[in-house]
Amino acid sequence: MAGDRTVTTPNALPMTALWWQTCATYQVYPRSFQDTNGDGIGDLKGIEQRLEYLEALGVDAIWISPIYPSPMADFGYDITDYCGVDPRFGTLADFDELLAQAHARGLKVLLDFVPNHTSDRHPWFAESRSSRDNPKRDWYLWRDPAPDGGPPNNWISDFGGSAWAWDAPTGQYYYHAFLKEQADLNWRNPAVQAAMFDVMRFWFDRGVDGFRIDVLWHMVKAADFPDNPPNPAYQPEMGEMHRVLQLNSTDQPEVLGIAADMRAIADSYDAKGQGDRVLIGEIYLPVDRLMRYYGRERAGVHLPFNFQLIDAPWEARSLAKLITEYEAALPPGGWPNWVLGNHDRSRVATKRGHAQALVAAMLLLTLRGTPTLYYGDELGLSDVAIPAALVQDPRELREPGRGLGRDPVRTPMPWDESRNAGFTAGRPWLPLNTDWPTRNAARMADEPHSILTLYRRLLAVRRAHLALSIGDFALLDAEGDVFAYERRHNAERLIVALNLGARPHRLQLPGWASNCRLLLSTLPGEARAGDAAMLLRGNEGVILTSD
Ligand code: NOJ
Repeated sequence: MAGDRTVTTPNALPMTALWWQTCATYQVYPRSFQDTNGDGIGDLKGIEQRLEYLEALGVDAIWISPIYPSPMADFGYDITDYCGVDPRFGTLADFDELLAQAHARGLKVLLDFVPNHTSDRHPWFAESRSSRDNPKRDWYLWRDPAPDGGPPNNWISDFGGSAWAWDAPTGQYYYHAFLKEQADLNWRNPAVQAAMFDVMRFWFDRGVDGFRIDVLWHMVKAADFPDNPPNPAYQPEMGEMHRVLQLNSTDQPEVLGIAADMRAIADSYDAKGQGDRVLIGEIYLPVDRLMRYYGRERAGVHLPFNFQLIDAPWEARSLAKLITEYEAALPPGGWPNWVLGNHDRSRVATKRGHAQALVAAMLLLTLRGTPTLYYGDELGLSDVAIPAALVQDPRELREPGRGLGRDPVRTPMPWDESRNAGFTAGRPWLPLNTDWPTRNAARMADEPHSILTLYRRLLAVRRAHLALSIGDFALLDAEGDVFAYERRHNAERLIVALNLGARPHRLQLPGWASNCRLLLSTLPGEARAGDAAMLLRGNEGVILTSD
């Protein structure tokens, strides 16, 4: 029997929602968005050119993956100057122009902040490695060899192999959680903190609306560098990093103080009347540990990224459990957020299939909290198979053939039917999706039932009905593959019902909803609502309204 169940929303929202609570954010991977100078790599002018598209799509903010000067060993996550722009992407003046144009369209702009590590070619690291008594020696993590001359402990890089690199001239190892070209900073050193906090102010002062903070949970390591325990569940196909549990190399209590210091910097801009700035922390941790990053006595980041939907079993009951448990775990005032994919993870259309990618879009854009979209997902892009000779990603090059590489999810945005899908006049740095002649933005914008049209409608409906972004969330009873919930804000009540399977299902509606009308379906054609029940077609998601 259907009916209202426990209202799971634990946190009442302040009377006026803040922009980062109602906004839908769109992640731009700048290398792959739009090239304007024919080098096969996207650039800032390209993003500026496509603001119109983003505005029409209906997102409210963009997060741009790193644009700073970089040798590109890890495609921009290895930075040599935190306050500049890599010439491949343009200039600081291009960035200022992009920011101004985005703001003029009402779009917020978030940058990627990469505080855990610098490039090994950063001038700080050059100084640090120049001698043991250099004043910047302690800006990085230097350790003597183990008694056998090997690495100081068993920590493994996320990209495979020991996380320690030997520096023969000074006779010590330095720590790198990722590539050896990405040396970890010593965040226990106050001078490092001060320098990096200045970087945040540099961009905030220019008008940037927030940061996505790279690997926030990695930033502080156990002070005495004990070994990590072995992982009893390790299987080689997981990647070598999973040989050990990263208990001592990540998620140390001190990082929460750093997150709070960063938050204080962000909040100081609002206090000066310069508008709210938002911090989104990249944190891959179980929910109970993730929640600590909202802060306790002192506020932490606004949004510790919640990646659970990326890997969740696509099954109605377990999704319902995951969502209610996450809601219940939020601390007072903690604002939820949801994500289906990013530049490191398999695309949603590949994981869930094309039919369910539409249902997933409806889920993402009707859950309580802030959603982040990954570029190209609105076109239903799949992971693109990259021939071995064209592989770029160091993750794949270091552990080939295990499906760990990220090139497949970073391929150029297909814009139209012109050469190279309108992405570049040159040779794209990665191959396009093979179906780009039909799967491209221009074509799909004209198709009434394309996934792009659905994303636009969903974003418009979400904007028009506050219940969808900030309303209370309550699970509804449903059976089989159907996952259904109610969203309520003031007098407005909406129902979202998602069929995660391919077979039709009847959904019993709660009493108050017997006169509901269909606001939006993921499928063409009128949905059929009886008085007390509605028939969901296979792979269909619907939003019903009571008005
Ligand atoms: C997380 C980023 O998302 C990923 O792309 C990068 O390789 C690592 N951090 C290292 O910066």
